[in-house]
Amino acid sequence: MNNFVYSIPTKIYFGKGQISHLGEAVSEYGSRALLVYGGGSIKKMGLYQTVIDLLQKDHISVTELFGVEPNPKIESVRAGVKLCHENDINVVLAVGGGSVIDCAKVIAAGVCYDGDAWDLVIHPEKIGRVLPIVSVLTLSATGSEMDGNAVISDMKKNDKFGTFSQDMKPKASILDPEYTYSVSKKQTAAGTADIMSHILETYFNNTPEAFLQSRFAEGLLKTCIKYGMTAMESPKNYEARANLMWASSLAINGLLSYGAGAAWSVHPMEHELSAFYDITHGIGLAILTPNWMKHVLNENTVDKFAEYGVNVWSIDANLNRFEIAEEAIQSTRDFFNEIGIPSTLRSVGIGDDNLEIMAKKAVSKGMDHAFVPLTADDVLAIFKASL
Ligand code: NZQ
Ligand code: ZN
Repeated sequence: MNNFVYSIPTKIYFGKGQISHLGEAVSEYGSRALLVYGGGSIKKMGLYQTVIDLLQKDHISVTELFGVEPNPKIESVRAGVKLCHENDINVVLAVGGGSVIDCAKVIAAGVCYDGDAWDLVIHPEKIGRVLPIVSVLTLSATGSEMDGNAVISDMKKNDKFGTFSQDMKPKASILDPEYTYSVSKKQTAAGTADIMSHILETYFNNTPEAFLQSRFAEGLLKTCIKYGMTAMESPKNYEARANLMWASSLAINGLLSYGAGAAWSVHPMEHELSAFYDITHGIGLAILTPNWMKHVLNENTVDKFAEYGVNVWSIDANLNRFEIAEEAIQSTRDFFNEIGIPSTLRSVGIGDDNLEIMAKKAVSKGMDHAFVPLTADDVLAIFKASL
């Protein structure tokens, strides 16, 4: 197992009614909050008014940045930084999905940076002080509620980059599964695929002695398979929403990657699809993942795929290793189809026009230390197989 420093400082308030802790969670860090939210889902479900009432009760003043878009854009970050300066904000409160939380994180870093916030997106090492961040999660997917990552797009340049800072990890996150009852079937499926992809990106690594992390990963994958399906059929099933929500946080908070990580492969590819076509992140991942698996299956990797097939998909361990691996890849594809995700890029409006440039840009983000190192030609082949 590789060396690591374990630090997951986010305080989690998990379960029904935990929003009652909002005032104390925010006022521990500041009294002038920037409330960041998306296009209105929190108003429809009544959460917006609850948040405003609770903040008022604790004498926390509120400035609002609303309309943060899925695949958040740098323009929203800049608008948030401006509001923070104008209103002397000292704590940032994100209420929404990963896009809202990611945008809030880069705002919180951008306020303390003497330059344009885009610099912090492409140069994580320039992130210095960060305003404290608190989040209320409404969509189980990205794990942004408990990690230090933020992904921001500049559509004018077709750029989408992930940045990172320990200090962008939220100080506290409120996770009430009931807030995800209203998530659409499409976003529930995409969220489940995103959680699974975060797990798979670390599960397929080159540290076989990290036995413990692999068993954690398999448990989380089985949780997503079981409860992803249940949440699709019964959106208000608390058990399903609760299991998905906690899986979302644990998939990417370091539990699986500390001591075992490899560079990610499918995410850099998908980020290019979103950067050029603004598609839903989890849908792109689900389309690419089985094709990436097929591409990297070989004599050196087959044992890991066989382990995946037997332990996650309960495939007969007596079969030939390649048979198990191929059946596991097919099971992965079938599951994504069963929860309503299409299998081809064309079905989400992507043709062959930008494949080469996207492949080059994906590889430039560093795939040489991946489970199987990939060149631009490899990525192009995976894109073509996904069309
Ligand atoms: O904008 P509103 O009205 O809130 O609607 C949103 C949005 O349209 C809606 N939604 C959220 N909660 C809802 C709801 N609708 C009804 N009921 C609710 N309770 O869902 C839509 C999608 O929301 P979004 O925040 O974009 O989804 P997600 O959480 O999947 O975030 C995706 C973004 O996160 C990045 C992705 O690249 C993408 O930009 N990622 C962030 C990561 C991280 N910080 O660690 C890692 C991931 O790999 C990922 O790259
Ligand atoms: Zn993801």
